Amino acid sequence: MNILAIETSCDETAAAILKAKRGRLELAANVVSSQINIHKKYGGVVPEVAARHHLENIIPVIDEAVQAAQIKPAAIDFIATTAGPGLVTALLVGIETAKALSYAWNKPLIPVNHMYAHLAANFFNQSIQFPALALIVSGGHTEIVLLKNHHHYNKIGQTVDDAVGEAYDKAAKLLNLGYPGGPIIARLADKFSGLSPINLPRPMINSRDFNFSFSGLKTALLYTVQKMTKKEIKTRTPEICRAFQNAAVEVLVSKTIKAAKKYQVQSILLAGGVAANKKLRADLKAAAEKNNFQFRVPEFKLCTDNAAMIAIAGYYLSRKHHPQKDGWQKISADPNWEL
Ligand code: KG4
Ligand code: ZN
Repeated sequence: MNILAIETSCDETAAAILKAKRGRLELAANVVSSQINIHKKYGGVVPEVAARHHLENIIPVIDEAVQAAQIKPAAIDFIATTAGPGLVTALLVGIETAKALSYAWNKPLIPVNHMYAHLAANFFNQSIQFPALALIVSGGHTEIVLLKNHHHYNKIGQTVDDAVGEAYDKAAKLLNLGYPGGPIIARLADKFSGLSPINLPRPMINSRDFNFSFSGLKTALLYTVQKMTKKEIKTRTPEICRAFQNAAVEVLVSKTIKAAKKYQVQSILLAGGVAANKKLRADLKAAAEKNNFQFRVPEFKLCTDNAAMIAIAGYYLSRKHHPQKDGWQKISADPNWEL
């Protein structure tokens, strides 16, 4: 089975070809065209600008994936595309392109939830022991999801304000470090190894639910730097980044382990763009294994937005519901599609 997948929910235009043979998945192409350099100068993603660039890039990106995989359209079994959540102007480019190809090539089209796809990146040739608990952390979402199997899941917690990736991005903006903030803060945090008097709050770490809050952490960071001179902020940036990262990661790890124990799961899965964070990967793995949970996280390139994860999700969805050829007519963008 060969799947063409398309992703345009935010600022990456992506296409992938996944081949499935007897349950074994092979990534024949995974093309990501990033717009980060374009949005950098605005300090964040501008939806209309993102849509315009998706429009310019989508056909060349699909073409590159098809060429790299050396596959003819006739050999594609179905198309999978992100239908939400995301920026509506950006989503529409991927969806309308996928619908056009579905009609022209007479191939079924499967709409994929972007957050389920982040999660499904963990299903790429990795065995998972169920029930499992997933922490999905990205620029727009911070969620804890309980999974009965590959298809049945329900959300048990989420952020009540900012997503953790958004908090990283806002913290970087506050410190004038550039966009996207996550990788920059992570890199600077690694440069500080001493003891620091900066102690930022761990919001909602002791709440009984599995929700998160990150806007207070960002405000605490603001108050901390407001007390410093410009020169002091500059020289202490790695220390400030480390304090911020320590607080964010500790809350994520602590609440995920608490939820895993409460729901008596077998394994813990980490997913989403912030899952590319080395400290979060290492700390959650250590805490999970200490408590005898299997730990899974996708390889780095499958954490941040890509179309391979859309193809993997499409593959699992196709095993649940056989995709229909005229399905494209019913598919539309859902910018707020909840897991
Ligand atoms: O999943 P993703 O690529 O896009 C969304 O669906 O939002 O996640 C992007 C987010 C951004 O907020 C970015 O700053 C964050 O993931 N991120 C990181 C790292 N790499 C990306 N955050 C912390 N550490 C990283 N290494
Ligand atoms: Zn994402």
